[in-house]
Amino acid sequence: MRKKIAVIGAGKVGSTTAQRMAERNYADVVLADVVEFVAEGVALDLLEAGPVVGYDANVTGITVKDGVGYEKIANADIVVMTAGIARKPGMSRDDLILTNQKIVGGWAEQIAKHAPNAIVIVVTNPVDAMTQLMWHVTQFPKHRVIGQAGVLDSARFRTFVALELGVSVQNVDAYVLGAHGDQMVPLPRYTTVAGVPVTELLPQEKLDALVKRTRDGGAEIVNLMKTGSAYYAPSASVAEMVDAILFDKKKILPCIAYLEGEYGIQGVYAGVPVRLGTQGIEEIVKFNLTADELAALQKSGEAVRALNKVMGI
Ligand code: 2OP
Repeated sequence: MRKKIAVIGAGKVGSTTAQRMAERNYADVVLADVVEFVAEGVALDLLEAGPVVGYDANVTGITVKDGVGYEKIANADIVVMTAGIARKPGMSRDDLILTNQKIVGGWAEQIAKHAPNAIVIVVTNPVDAMTQLMWHVTQFPKHRVIGQAGVLDSARFRTFVALELGVSVQNVDAYVLGAHGDQMVPLPRYTTVAGVPVTELLPQEKLDALVKRTRDGGAEIVNLMKTGSAYYAPSASVAEMVDAILFDKKKILPCIAYLEGEYGIQGVYAGVPVRLGTQGIEEIVKFNLTADELAALQKSGEAVRALNKVMGI
């Protein structure tokens, strides 16, 4: 039987994620939203693209309302949570917390009820805190609740390094850890260009500028678009994680994971390298960090802890 992926939220991130999933043709896709018939419309449009693009995945849309419709996500193998309000210029991701807590918390109850064996990938911002909330409310085992941020942040860093050096992005590997925001921890020492550490290729000053651009990468796009935030790179990043899970790739990717002492962080979610496979997070991968890198990562953990307090969890 074909796998089932439920994408919650039919906004830009949700609908482009649904598109990427449908085009991969490895799962049926259910797209859900609270705004009447938007998900149905997007899903029908995607379904009608199938004959041309060459996929036959079933894509359905559902409006959830007054406790009805949630059952359509029943037994999803993977749930991608994108629902929530997005930033406007001048807002930080943390400014979204109380509104998105209600949305994500409400959905978490429904996911626990209807898709109790799902692996959940959280994208809604502030994503580190929303991932923790999803885990807290669903009470799923920690390996099945994962946040997406590091793949996106690393993709941005890879893009900027490739542009700077005039090489293919495919030659650049990068790991950006920590929280998705000011506490992001890009690791130039673990960023390589055809195997050569970028620290040997670019002066410190240039690297610092690229790190800063990466840290501000989401805001750069919000400031350009004015009415929304990024969705192509976020949905591509989700798709890489889904691929790793569905194909049991054992791929090492930076993801938001629940930590119980790893990297000296206890009882909070933070962005670290993990091995992703069919079980979800199969291992927290240990990098040898310098004292400064470790301190920066631990600061991320504390920032998430502070947001958890705001949410009362
Ligand atoms: C981003 O970094 C919106 O957090 C998202 O683009």
